[in-house]
Amino acid sequence: MKLHSGQVAVVTGAANGIGRAVAEALRARDIRVVLADLEADAVAEVAAALGPDTLSVPIDVADAAQVRRLADTTMERFGRVDLVFNNAGTAAGGPVWAVEPEEWQRVWGVNVQGVVNGIRAFVPLMIAAGRGHVVNTSSLAGVTTGMFNAPYAATKHAVVSLTETLHGELSVLAPGIGATVVCPGPVDTRMLRSITEGIEPLLADGDSTPPQPTEGWLASLAPDQWARFAPALGAVGQLAAEAIPAARAAEMILAAVEADRLYVTTHPHWAPQASDRVAAIVADMQASA
Ligand SMILES: NC(=O)c1ccc[n+]([C@@H]2O[C@H](COP(=O)([O-])OP(=O)(O)OC[C@H]3O[C@@H](n4cnc5c(N)ncnc54)[C@H](O)[C@@H]3O)[C@@H](O)[C@H]2O)c1
Repeated sequence: MKLHSGQVAVVTGAANGIGRAVAEALRARDIRVVLADLEADAVAEVAAALGPDTLSVPIDVADAAQVRRLADTTMERFGRVDLVFNNAGTAAGGPVWAVEPEEWQRVWGVNVQGVVNGIRAFVPLMIAAGRGHVVNTSSLAGVTTGMFNAPYAATKHAVVSLTETLHGELSVLAPGIGATVVCPGPVDTRMLRSITEGIEPLLADGDSTPPQPTEGWLASLAPDQWARFAPALGAVGQLAAEAIPAARAAEMILAAVEADRLYVTTHPHWAPQASDRVAAIVADMQASA
């Protein structure tokens, strides 16, 4: 979808990080923006900093009724909606079997149900208007194989699948409406720093096994498990070195929307990891003959 002045966009998770940067990039194009976030004060401050033609709405995207009210509020204030960025997200770590049920539900509620709620609230409005574009945020974790972040990886895979399905359905039932799934690599935000800053002190000792943390799920590992896990920390530490600014990620996302591309990543040089995963699936499927 071509972006132009006068359009209206809704961005969830807009108080921080990538969502905030997307809102700023949209305002720079004179697009009116509704900023939604769990953090009421923070999102109000961001909206105020972006000036008039913005609106802040405190919201939990996991709650369908709140997302529907977000759509109603958008229509009451601006009378149209052209773009929705289902960007709000959260993470959890640990081996699959050790993550508590409440943690699974929390991550599922935000990362999957939050996206579904956004699609359900906004796509009918777009179909009625005959135009629009839905942007759902997944992750490189949604197209590659990882470890120790199953709630995040599984929900981000779900976002890819949801968006692929939505894209196909819209192409048949409402061809004027586009869909894009964002698969960021490391972007310098609070979410990334919450992961890497906990790891950096553990990397200080170089090759020797660092002391085991006394908090969080890493504390639950037996000493031999910790010794086998510790070498994997280097890859996590590498994320910080590869991180790009959120403003750069926002520009890449908007370029993909303008080009009507289904998939976009901030780190194209990691694409071979996605093809390695698909190749492993295909190889085992063919071996099943
Ligand atoms: N930063 C990265 O390296 C990275 C990489 C891949 C994917 N992502 C994805 O990008 C998106 C944005 O992440 P970010 O890095 O900007 O994180 P962030 O923590 O900086 O910002 C996320 C925002 O979402 C809001 N939020 C969380 N739960 C919410 C809820 N239930 N309802 C409404 N708002 C809620 C938070 O308050 C916060 O303002 C997420 O979906 C994340 O999974 C980020």
